[in-house]
Amino acid sequence: MLPTIVREVDAVVMIDQRKLPAAEVYVRCTTAKEVARAIKTMVIRGAPAIGVAAAMGIALGMRKSTTTGTQKFAAEFYKVCELMAATRPTAVNLFWAIDRMKRAFGAAAAAGESVDQIKDRLDREAQAIHDEDVASCRAIGAFGAAVVPADARILTHCNAGALATAGYGTALGVIRGAVEAGRNVTVFADETRPFLQGARLTAWELVRDGIHTTVIADNMSGSLMRQGRVDLVVVGADRIAANGDTANKIGTYGVAVLAREHNVPFYVAAPLSTIDLRTPDGGHIPVEERSGREVTHVGVTQVAPKDAKIWNPAFDVTPHRFIAGIITEKGIFRAPYTESPKSAFEQGTIAELQESRK
Ligand code: MRU
Repeated sequence: MLPTIVREVDAVVMIDQRKLPAAEVYVRCTTAKEVARAIKTMVIRGAPAIGVAAAMGIALGMRKSTTTGTQKFAAEFYKVCELMAATRPTAVNLFWAIDRMKRAFGAAAAAGESVDQIKDRLDREAQAIHDEDVASCRAIGAFGAAVVPADARILTHCNAGALATAGYGTALGVIRGAVEAGRNVTVFADETRPFLQGARLTAWELVRDGIHTTVIADNMSGSLMRQGRVDLVVVGADRIAANGDTANKIGTYGVAVLAREHNVPFYVAAPLSTIDLRTPDGGHIPVEERSGREVTHVGVTQVAPKDAKIWNPAFDVTPHRFIAGIITEKGIFRAPYTESPKSAFEQGTIAELQESRK
């Protein structure tokens, strides 16, 4: 499996996703500040991977703390949490992971643990977040395989693969799960301007796995669907609101609209940690805007005048009515996503699942 992120005793090590596929370079972060910077600058990206990185960064930062005395240690801990929370605003897994670290800290403090014991507990919690994410992705893959026909041409957008998670992937988890279940799968990977996660990362992962993959520019998916060459779409998510509206990489919304027009089922694959019940609908999801340079340049090559005005939202929101199902580690939610009881879903309501997870 791909080594997205690994904790070493005195560092958090991650593959530099900005450099792929041209070079496999590993970045060693030796402080919490360096981990935060790596998240912000997209050394590591993808909602679940960001959450894991933040948790490991917090654990690393506190492991290296020289503070004695629980009160001072606690003050430093909350500062490091704030540092992580300020990195990227849309992926809710980041805040979910930070909350988990805070709960672990709270439990340790309530149990009267020493600073050294709290450090151990934070390390264990971060590793658990990592390991559970891999398990979730594998379960998503197993559930998702059921919606993939025997011969399937699957379109995906951005990278929701092993690189975007602790391993295996969500949308790519579904693809991997389908392949493992014996389906004959071919993939169309949208290149995903401006950061090219599809062309650079998804294609890299799938080609490595020997899965038949064709990269297309983002403006080709409509034509492809019109020609009847896509059987289903599966994408990841950065935040799923309580009503099922889903924020994902910019361009996802357009793909969903096209899929609806061409009667192609459009699925979202995500762990429960991506579902945010505190956000009622997509209109309340904060959308990160990134530097205009990502649009004016492709790599180091300038493709638009430097002084042109640029709009660069990193995500868009797909209304729940376009989504055929949300594939999670507990099963597949089906529309309508908010109408309560169990009849609405194969596995219960989103709220019930979140509740059962506590
Ligand atoms: O800006 P990025 O590369 O972090 O955006 C990533 C995505 O939009 C992914 O599709 C999403 O985080 C799901 S990853 C399993």
